[in-house]
Amino acid sequence: ASDHAAVAAAASGNGKPRARRPSAAAAAVLGEPVAASDDHGLVHPSADFASQALVSSTQQYQEMYRRSIDDPAGFWSEIAETFYWKHKWNPDEVCTENLDVTKGPIKIEWFKGGKTNICYNAVDRNVEAGDGEKIAMYWEGNEPGQDAKLTYSELLNKVCQLANYLKSVGVGKGDAVVIYLPMLMELPIAMLACARIGAVHSVVFAGFSADALAQRIIDCKPKVVITCNAVKRGKKLIALKDIVDVSLADSAKNGVDVGISLTYENQSAMKREDTKWTSGRDVWWQDVVPNFPTKCDVEWVDAEDPLFLLYTSGSTGKPKGVLHTTGGYMVYSATTFKHAFDYKPSDIYWCTADCGWITGHSYVTYGPLLNGATVLVYEGAPNYPDPGRCWDVVDKYGVTIFYTAPTLIRALMRDGTEYVTRYSRKSLRVLGSVGEPINPTAWRWFYDIIGDARCPISDTWWQTETGGFMITPLPGAWPLKPGSATFPFFGVQPVIVDEKGKEMEGECSGYLCIKKSWPGAFRTLYGDKDRYETTYFKPFAGYYFSGDGCSRDKDGYHFLTGRVDDVINVSGHRIGTAEVESALVSHPKCAEAAVVGIDHEVKGQGIYAFVTLVDGVPYSDELRKSLVMTVRSQIGAFAAPDKIHWAPGLPKTRSGKIMRRILRKIASRQLDELGDTSTLAEPGVVDQLIALADS
Ligand code: PRX
Repeated sequence: ASDHAAVAAAASGNGKPRARRPSAAAAAVLGEPVAASDDHGLVHPSADFASQALVSSTQQYQEMYRRSIDDPAGFWSEIAETFYWKHKWNPDEVCTENLDVTKGPIKIEWFKGGKTNICYNAVDRNVEAGDGEKIAMYWEGNEPGQDAKLTYSELLNKVCQLANYLKSVGVGKGDAVVIYLPMLMELPIAMLACARIGAVHSVVFAGFSADALAQRIIDCKPKVVITCNAVKRGKKLIALKDIVDVSLADSAKNGVDVGISLTYENQSAMKREDTKWTSGRDVWWQDVVPNFPTKCDVEWVDAEDPLFLLYTSGSTGKPKGVLHTTGGYMVYSATTFKHAFDYKPSDIYWCTADCGWITGHSYVTYGPLLNGATVLVYEGAPNYPDPGRCWDVVDKYGVTIFYTAPTLIRALMRDGTEYVTRYSRKSLRVLGSVGEPINPTAWRWFYDIIGDARCPISDTWWQTETGGFMITPLPGAWPLKPGSATFPFFGVQPVIVDEKGKEMEGECSGYLCIKKSWPGAFRTLYGDKDRYETTYFKPFAGYYFSGDGCSRDKDGYHFLTGRVDDVINVSGHRIGTAEVESALVSHPKCAEAAVVGIDHEVKGQGIYAFVTLVDGVPYSDELRKSLVMTVRSQIGAFAAPDKIHWAPGLPKTRSGKIMRRILRKIASRQLDELGDTSTLAEPGVVDQLIALADS
């Protein structure tokens, strides 16, 4: 353990305590127990694995990590030089930053003055290096037997054709393009085409509803929306184009008229004859894009020019447009991918995330392609036609790195090991987990059953805002502990602070903050610099505040304990309780709503909604269904409440603030832990709520 204590010591900062208050919701989470690492012990990489790994010992990591902290400019410049830059950055401006709100506006810049293009680096550079015939992407459709593939040269041609089309309709540098596509190869192609011409893509997960899509379109005002007519996920047919139609009509009413809806005809789901069409606005991808030249000049952009906007949930009802820029994100997504998965050119890599989330941005599209990797893109549901599909796909393509979310592991675990063991899975060598804490039981099953106790698991902690991995195993460098994301990546200085903002040393539990910037950090919230500073930099001055709770054990291993703000994590999807509440109260019969997260066996967290009704309205099963439908149509099916709890009144303080602490306890039926209810304006409502809990 002393080795690991040393890693932790190297990784922990020793900054000055700062006085700040915690967020109100945090206390409840911080008091809760965390995964007990000691019960599970260390899981070592095999000697064979360690000996071939890029970073093969704690000592090698420590040396590299120390350098990345002592000389970030030197460390990251050396890596950046392995990419192509049209003009090199100004050596004095490798990193300019201010993370301390008390010293002026927050500012983070990396490789300022450098000119590059991430599409060029992810595609052309690999072709020019002689990898034109290497497979860039395998595509596996929803139905077994449906598949396709693209070499790097073919990918380049397709990206160029789309880029040329976008240019021809007036999309240029700095223009926004919204992409609302399922996991077709056209999704990464569309991202890359935007990046090639300096346009800013905003991918909206194709599970979001028309309302949610419209909200994002209205915010970023794209020139074009790229979609497809329909998709099949499992047995379900989803008519995406119909959803886009509704959201475009809605956006137009709000003054944002999108001129073009470029629609890919996804023939296996729906024929074009069956697709509703608005001529003048709607254009079939297949009718126009293939007519454009397969060569398209690259728009060289500044390292700090925006690359993409990705909307994510926060603690208010309005989603936040997280803005990432080009140079730092490029260097960071590529480097984290390479090290956390111990990437080798012969790897076949599969990440089950959708490109609608940050994981799909950094670790389906950019990170892997920047490394010249072969990526598998899977369109369908992971348990269709049966729970063995993932392993069938792993065997079919010889997948070596498999990266997924704990919710899928837990779901497959429930379906039984026979769906796993009927496949070989021999090709696998590294596994990965992301999106939510992985409970040690699921970790063990992933490790023992899926990986045959052979493949290290990289439990990667990071966020939409961080652009890439922050705390993650380097799989050959040190032993793992089930449930722990282990140690910080190069250049990352995580600190755990108490509610006053005082950094804690050694074994401790508190709020996870980061000091100093890293190249992949987001630069702002689109159109809302105030919210950017208030949410992330004001709670603990001098630090980036992650919104997560974290424990560190005696060996320095980090265990993420979940969000400490009003954000919940359902099947790895980040949802703001306020978003669900505002959807519920838009229902004409709902007067007030309070949403909390509850433990859920498969989803990690479930959504539990307390609702009060408009005077005189009786509660009924029909009303419950209609409330759930309202959330589905305003956000998306993935945000539908698991439980609606009718409440004649909500527990509030005398100043009118809802006491969520009490609601969380009622929701999780921890009724003997309600704590002090005497400060409530009407203490009687608690008994009423308990009485109605299972009605
Ligand atoms: O609470 C943390 C959880 O997911 C949040 C970030 O969500 P999002 O921005 O949607 O990005 C998800 C994919 C990176 C974090 O604040 N989270 C993410 N990874 C982990 C995690 N919690 C525990 N362990 C992880 N490995």
